[in-house]
Amino acid sequence: MFKSLSGFRDFYPDQCQLRNYLFDKWKFASTVANFFEYDVPCLESLDLYQEKSGEEILSQIYHFKDKGGRPVAMRPEITPSVARMVATKANALKKPIKWFNIGECFRYERPQRGRLRSFYQFNADIFGENSFLADVELINLLINSLKIFGLTESDFRIRLSDRKMWAFLLDLIGVNSDQTKEVLSLIDKYERITNKDWENKTNQLLGSDKANGFRNTIKEWLCLKSFSDLEQFWHGYKFDNNLQQGLEKRLEEWNSLLKALKALGVSDFVELDFTIVRGLAYYTGFVFEAFDCENKSRALAGGGRYDHLVAKLGGPEIPATGFAVGDVTLKDFLESKNLIPNTLQGPYVYVVIDSHKMLDNALSGVSILRSLGVSVDYPLKKISLGKQFKIVHSSGAIWMIIYGEREWRTHKITLKNLKNGVESLVSPEVAFESILSKHN
Ligand code: HAM
Repeated sequence: MFKSLSGFRDFYPDQCQLRNYLFDKWKFASTVANFFEYDVPCLESLDLYQEKSGEEILSQIYHFKDKGGRPVAMRPEITPSVARMVATKANALKKPIKWFNIGECFRYERPQRGRLRSFYQFNADIFGENSFLADVELINLLINSLKIFGLTESDFRIRLSDRKMWAFLLDLIGVNSDQTKEVLSLIDKYERITNKDWENKTNQLLGSDKANGFRNTIKEWLCLKSFSDLEQFWHGYKFDNNLQQGLEKRLEEWNSLLKALKALGVSDFVELDFTIVRGLAYYTGFVFEAFDCENKSRALAGGGRYDHLVAKLGGPEIPATGFAVGDVTLKDFLESKNLIPNTLQGPYVYVVIDSHKMLDNALSGVSILRSLGVSVDYPLKKISLGKQFKIVHSSGAIWMIIYGEREWRTHKITLKNLKNGVESLVSPEVAFESILSKHN
């Protein structure tokens, strides 16, 4: 017997319905915020990801040479593709560009809880807007696209950090710019590595003299939990003029961003957390991840500002910010919170056929109802009435119609509302009208 590949999923109809449930909610949350849907190919040139996605993703890419010998890759994420689209038509597109996509991505990771090799991501991005309000708009959309499933502030948090603030800190500690990438990638693993490894790796990177001071400052830095902690931290340090002005401007932006989130009524979902730096190479400003409050699973979502990616892909300098939520962690999380509805929907109407002589009349009724947009099912072979009733009750149908020979003599059929048990003998026209009047 063949099985699907490890880390890949078959979607049986109930799983498809659940998947659609997630997708519909994400689409709804995006469209009420006036984001427009776009799409990109599953297979891209391998080049697109080289240097742009960061080492971790690069090591996980499914790639091969196509029949023309071109190096191609199954997309591990959507961001480089959408940045390419924007780069291609940069001048023609009306700004700000607010776009969303729901699509499958592929990463050769070790399959485990919350991590597969094929998964869906809901991506939302804004291009062409520098203002902190673009970051606010996305953080707000991320929160709403999780709240919409019934999750509350006691369930999840957005952990907010900032690559620009990190740059000020690294400058303060004296980490030079060619070490920044390695230091940030170490911070990205901070919560997952042992104390001993942290010590060894920082010693290796910075030399043991410098590393000691570095670790002490980082320890203090990673304990900051609020904006006033952040202000307090910087209070004790002064840069020379230009840097100091940059820092003060950035603190002001933080303040404005947090105030705007408060005004939108979502600030209780957001906390400051500088352990978040994001592994991906392209981030340049505010970065964030969504986690369950009990910290039981891997990140539900992640994103941030990436102002230079469009230019790196050959387009003009266009500021950008965005995020992606994955379906795997979200589904597990909703299940753990009992927030998955019983999704497998039956037909709205089930048509019971009393005798084979009634088949043509019943089929005509089926056809009329379906043409009116009502979902209808009926038995595809001759079966006893008793069996048909059993099927009706397990089908989830709201209405049952019985085409009986005796009733048909007066052009009547039996209509039963399966929710309240009310039954009547009426003409097909009246039955269809009753069904339609309650149908939406
Ligand atoms: P990411 O953090 O790599 O960011 O992925 C975002 C989300 O995708 C994760 O939080 C997780 O829910 C899901 N995800 C990632 N890998 C897997 C996996 N192997 N199995 C299941 N789920 C997974 C990005 O991809 C960025 N491109 C997001 C972004 C959009 N930044 C700006 N715009």
